[in-house]
Amino acid sequence: MGKAHMERIAGFTSTGSKRPEVFFGGADSSLPLRMAASSGCRVWDAEGREYLDYVMALGAVALGYAHPEVTAAVVRAVQQGGVGPLAPVLEEEVAGEICRLMPWVERLRFLKTGAEAMAAAVRLARVATGREQVLGCGYHGWLDWCQSDSAGVPAGTKALYGEVPFNDPDRTRELIRSAGDGLAAVVFEPVILCPPDPAWLAVLREETERAGALLVADEIKTVCRLAIGGGAERYGYRPDLVVMGKALANGFPLAVVGGRAEVMDGVTRTWISSTLATEFVSLAAARATLEVMVGQKVPAHLSSVGGHLLSGLEALAQRHVGVVLGARGIAEMCFLESRDQALSARVAAACASRGLLFKRGAYNFVSLAHDRATVDHTLGLLDEALAAVGDSSPNRLSP
Ligand SMILES: Cc1ncc(COP(=O)(O)O)c(C=O)c1O
Repeated sequence: MGKAHMERIAGFTSTGSKRPEVFFGGADSSLPLRMAASSGCRVWDAEGREYLDYVMALGAVALGYAHPEVTAAVVRAVQQGGVGPLAPVLEEEVAGEICRLMPWVERLRFLKTGAEAMAAAVRLARVATGREQVLGCGYHGWLDWCQSDSAGVPAGTKALYGEVPFNDPDRTRELIRSAGDGLAAVVFEPVILCPPDPAWLAVLREETERAGALLVADEIKTVCRLAIGGGAERYGYRPDLVVMGKALANGFPLAVVGGRAEVMDGVTRTWISSTLATEFVSLAAARATLEVMVGQKVPAHLSSVGGHLLSGLEALAQRHVGVVLGARGIAEMCFLESRDQALSARVAAACASRGLLFKRGAYNFVSLAHDRATVDHTLGLLDEALAAVGDSSPNRLSP
């Protein structure tokens, strides 16, 4: 591929987390920068080199790349035209299946990206309450409503958004109370490095009700991973709206905003619509994904194999104290925190040179395609990579 061609994409790639500086701390020709194909938990780069992968499309793939049942469903949908002039039969069918599996979702709308579905949830909360202020906790996508320091976002929009701290019940209560009757919604990610404290969840539910605001769970990366119904199923909270994406369609572009019928019926009082929200290739992918998720109890597999990975990472952190501060996250989404950015970049590069794509400072994800033997092999590669980086580090600490 010619250099001129490589420079046509502003900022190297359209997905921020796939930039070489994020992945490896910089670009260099020995590193995998662009990929050509993926299957199961394997990826092939532009030079044809094979990697064992834990990025799993940033958590969008929980069954493994090119899962045969999803691929077959997608090919069928493509052959059936994939899109057309009318609402597809599959739209209502997949919605019915989601509502059956997650009874706290009474009605829903499909969209394409997580950010879009989050923006729809916030719009619906503003419609339902007639208020504008929103408090958030976690990452909710790139759109204007939740940016506090991105360039190009109007100051008036930024002023409508604030943050509440994860797992801090007292401060969260205080912030919700001080937003008072201007508050439309609190939106939260259920897991930020660790599980939610039940006391924090209780404050979110009680205080939003008390304020007359809605509670919105951002389950974009937790749905079909912590449980089929995400954090709401695992931890038992009941938000007014939930937003889902990523693993729901095993990497095909589909997101959902759903929840209480009376809130969802607000769609008739505002404008939420997108031309390709009703293409049915992704809906076919979601139907097949949900079938495999339920039939093969995929979340239980992710918990077991991910638990094996996390305990291995904890052991590695003890062995390589000169490089690593500790293992972070939960079984299904975890990583090693290095002592500094430079070390973490060298670890990521040392992993890649051993055929392993392993995120630094951000979640790695297991899938149905990873098993205990894969994880054991991975832990061996990580051990080698950490030893190589530790041995060549100018400020070596003895373990
Ligand atoms: C919790 C959460 N919310 C929202 C988003 C944004 O989703 P998307 O990138 O599909 O717009 C992400 C993506 O990483 C996410 O993890």
